[in-house]
Amino acid sequence: MARPVLRTPLCDMLNIEYPILSAGMGPTLIGEKTGAPVELVVAVSEAGGLGVLGGSGYTVEELREAIREIKKQTDKPFGVDLLLPKKLDLDGGMGSKQVEKLPLQAILETIPKPHKDWVNKIKTEMGLPDTQIMVRMNTTTMRPKESVQVCIEEKVPLFCAGLGNPGFMVPEAHANGMKVLAITGNAKNAKRLAEAGIDLLVAQGHEGGGHTGRIGTMALLPAAMDAAAPVPLLAAGGIGDGRGIAAALAMGCTGVWIGTRFLATDEGGALPVNKQRILSSTDEDTRVSTAYTGKTLRASYNKFHDLWAESGLAPLPFPTQVMISSALLDGFIAANKDEYVGGLAGQISGIIKEIKPARQVLEEMVAETVDILGRRLPQTVKVK
Ligand SMILES: Cc1cc2nc3c(=O)[nH]c(=O)nc-3n(C[C@H](O)[C@H](O)[C@H](O)COP(=O)(O)O)c2cc1C
Repeated sequence: MARPVLRTPLCDMLNIEYPILSAGMGPTLIGEKTGAPVELVVAVSEAGGLGVLGGSGYTVEELREAIREIKKQTDKPFGVDLLLPKKLDLDGGMGSKQVEKLPLQAILETIPKPHKDWVNKIKTEMGLPDTQIMVRMNTTTMRPKESVQVCIEEKVPLFCAGLGNPGFMVPEAHANGMKVLAITGNAKNAKRLAEAGIDLLVAQGHEGGGHTGRIGTMALLPAAMDAAAPVPLLAAGGIGDGRGIAAALAMGCTGVWIGTRFLATDEGGALPVNKQRILSSTDEDTRVSTAYTGKTLRASYNKFHDLWAESGLAPLPFPTQVMISSALLDGFIAANKDEYVGGLAGQISGIIKEIKPARQVLEEMVAETVDILGRRLPQTVKVK
């Protein structure tokens, strides 16, 4: 059977068949490498979309290896997503070349006393073991300058800044044949990023998994589109099937950026317990919490959210709060306290009922979108 046709100008810009990107997804806790690994990127790109590597949990060296592995497995375009620091201290932030790894247990000694006391109280009350996690000090998030350089040297077709403004790298990226994408959660930031010279903007609504803003996707898309024009906009947050894609395209988006639905696939990089949590979730079973990273972040609801809310503590700045959440999550997993574990996931979890291969997810999305736009809409909506 002929392959369905679903094309927008994004397909020409990125040289892809379908205007569907799997989102760059990082790890839920330190020690987990990524939510969007090489396997997911290859599966989505080979199926005609564009897979984006979640680069934030890798070391700089692992990032290069992962990019080379993708190139080995597919000749289709792909992307890499990094979290850039807010202030462009691109010389390395917290990272250190001298010390490659530090025990998380030791780092916990250095956090403010009220937070340290709270972590110790939870550990004692719940019988959690000391964490064995080693914190790698040379991750891409800690060494953004070198990580961006790796992407440029490797001529990654699409560079994606999950946090921060990548405007500084646009000329060099373009000189190397790359495109640059950024993500926003509001119209003000959309305008700022568009003015920085990026090629593509993702607007992610409140319902999305991971770091999230306050504005729902339906209200955000037209506002961000107007603010960023003429930079083309991709929709994100709450898209899990052809219905969401058709709606985004009807609103004028050039494509979609999909996280949670691609996380819950055979190739998605989440822990099995977190994939199961997505399957068992209703639309009401995610929460926004500062517990994980210190920033507002949506994850599958679990009792860790309640523990943190009851602590009365202010979140520590990113990435220090990640030390607390990772130590505790690691302890909950080791002690089989699954009801205290949940990963980053969006409200669209409520319609996800099965873990499938990513190719199948993409093909079903395309078929449904084509059916809605080509058949169902003209049948049900009469216009003159
Ligand atoms: C497990 C997970 C990890 C994520 N990590 C990142 C990340 O490292 N960088 C980033 O740009 N966005 C990250 N996000 C957000 C996604 O890129 C995307 O914007 C979001 O998942 C879209 O909403 P949806 O989950 O409803 O599809 C993450 C999302 C999830 C679910």
